[in-house]
Amino acid sequence: MDQLYENRALVEVYDALNASRDDFDFYLSQFPSQPCTVLDIGCGTGTFALELSKRGYSVTAVDPAPQMIAAARAKDAAQHVRWVTGYVSDLAPEPRFDVSIMTGHAFQCLLEDDDIIALFQAVAARINAGASFWFETRNPAAKAWTRWTPKKARPPMALGEGRSLKVVQEVLNVDGEYVSFKETYEFSDKDHPLSSLSTLRFLTLDRIEDLGRAGGLCIGSVCGDWTGAAFQANSPEIIFRMDKDE
Ligand SMILES: C[S@@+](CC[C@H](N)C(=O)[O-])C[C@H]1O[C@@H](n2cnc3c(N)ncnc32)[C@H](O)[C@@H]1O
Repeated sequence: MDQLYENRALVEVYDALNASRDDFDFYLSQFPSQPCTVLDIGCGTGTFALELSKRGYSVTAVDPAPQMIAAARAKDAAQHVRWVTGYVSDLAPEPRFDVSIMTGHAFQCLLEDDDIIALFQAVAARINAGASFWFETRNPAAKAWTRWTPKKARPPMALGEGRSLKVVQEVLNVDGEYVSFKETYEFSDKDHPLSSLSTLRFLTLDRIEDLGRAGGLCIGSVCGDWTGAAFQANSPEIIFRMDKDE
């Protein structure tokens, strides 16, 4: 597991660093308007799960990182969401859900085909007939990692109480579908920076479609960005609605 999701100091700044979320608005616009049951996979600090809960959806939110779940549980109104530390496969097969979702490019944390197929199988087994699984991955053709350089680092961000934080990204290796990179967190009130090493997988639409089929899901729709535009070869995102293959 990345330090990013395990180190308390880094988990504490996750929401501040990820404050602008066009993805949440997009997914909300796609969800059934009637309150229903939702499974949020890789829920992180729970922002989207809580947003859904506030709107009347009944949410179960799972994440393998205990510190991320702890941060979610500590938020206002967290008692209205069912939080689970673990994977979808840890959930009982019943009750099934009306919608499932995986936001924040959490899908790219799954590095092996077997992990992805297992995820799809676990989701297919836990959603109702006619239900969908929404998730996204960065389009490999758009090469987002070429912007993850110290030169393109955002200016220091104010954290309140006079503290600030600068995050610097540096790609260490690109090996086919795998991009490994380092993030260095320079807190104004710490003598030494903290760092996190990550590897993400960048899969094409076709490969994910194949893995989906192997896991019992088929493509319902694909968008290419958070405006909901149709996917094109150079779109920044590949946003899937996968349906249960009945
Ligand atoms: C970038 S965060 C996204 C969190 C949240 N979904 C959001 O949109 O802010 C990625 C999350 O995926 C979780 N994760 C890592 N590996 C996972 C896996 N194999 N299955 C499910 N979640 C995973 C991490 O613990 C982390 O909380």
